[in-house]
Amino acid sequence: RCLTGYTRPFVKCGKAGYVMPSSFTKCAETIYNMKVRPDDVWVITFPRSGTTWTQELVWLAENDLDYETAKRIPLHERFPMLETTTQIPDIAFELIKMNFMNLSSFQGLGSAVRESSWETIDKAPSPRYIKTHLPLSLLPPSLLDTAKVVYVARDPRDVCVSYYFLHKMVVKNLFKIQFHHFWEAFRRDLLPWTPIVAHTNEAWVKRYHRNLHFVFYEDLIENLPNQIRRLCTFLGRKYSDEQIENLAHHLSFDSLRKNKKVNNTIGDDGVQFIRKGEAGNWKEHFDPKLELEAEEFLIERLRGLDLNYPSIS
Ligand code: A3P
Repeated sequence: RCLTGYTRPFVKCGKAGYVMPSSFTKCAETIYNMKVRPDDVWVITFPRSGTTWTQELVWLAENDLDYETAKRIPLHERFPMLETTTQIPDIAFELIKMNFMNLSSFQGLGSAVRESSWETIDKAPSPRYIKTHLPLSLLPPSLLDTAKVVYVARDPRDVCVSYYFLHKMVVKNLFKIQFHHFWEAFRRDLLPWTPIVAHTNEAWVKRYHRNLHFVFYEDLIENLPNQIRRLCTFLGRKYSDEQIENLAHHLSFDSLRKNKKVNNTIGDDGVQFIRKGEAGNWKEHFDPKLELEAEEFLIERLRGLDLNYPSIS
């Protein structure tokens, strides 16, 4: 009875059946038909794959390393998100259906509408920096042939852990579900933007396109200065070794975590948007049963694809 009037929160979109909050139907067509500009730079990711990190890198590389402006204007204003999402209550709804949460914890959940720019994007001055979690197939078909696109991918197990903590952070202490419940929803493709492997594979198969720069979070972790160089080459920007070192320092986990213009949400229990910053942190959260499930999940989803995650053998 408590759910009376609560319309089904998800729609399934595209060939792969991407899960989107129903609010997406308001902007799907506008986004698909929007006019892409040659001087746009897009960062596309599945959530929690290193989006913010990469946005700050791209923005600085594109703006002559203007740290002053970067320290003054929040990243979400310099590099806004395209689509509208209301993901937190939606997730709670799915989890209730799976009997993972009781309604009393659901009733406390507020609506968490993320900032979005799709309504104003056509009028935004050039150059535009656009962040989106939408897969390529839900974006304008002319995108890759027109603008520069950076796609960041990450081990789905680490994404799932990071996604779980994001919800803990946003909904603060009201988010009572345990990690294994969240994993169950993730592997069953119930959470917004899933299925993750299909999302990443759409970009992977286009990775040799001249306008697409495909990078793994794990490679950013392994050698940030090298990856900054690769990305600057892709963007057509040339910086000295010293400038690259300084940029790597600005983008280091500790420095970005302290940066209030980038890491600006802190949960009651101390969970931060920039949280742990590790490759392989999933091992601390998957027990042997979940680890086996994750192995099976990856085998099944990767079957027939040549998508190679550096952290998955
Ligand atoms: P964890 O939760 O595993 O720590 P997104 O921006 O796509 O939401 O991704 C967030 C993830 O990127 C978080 O992962 C966050 O800590 C990590 N991250 C952000 N900045 C980072 C940095 N400078 N170094 C390493 N990881 C970073």
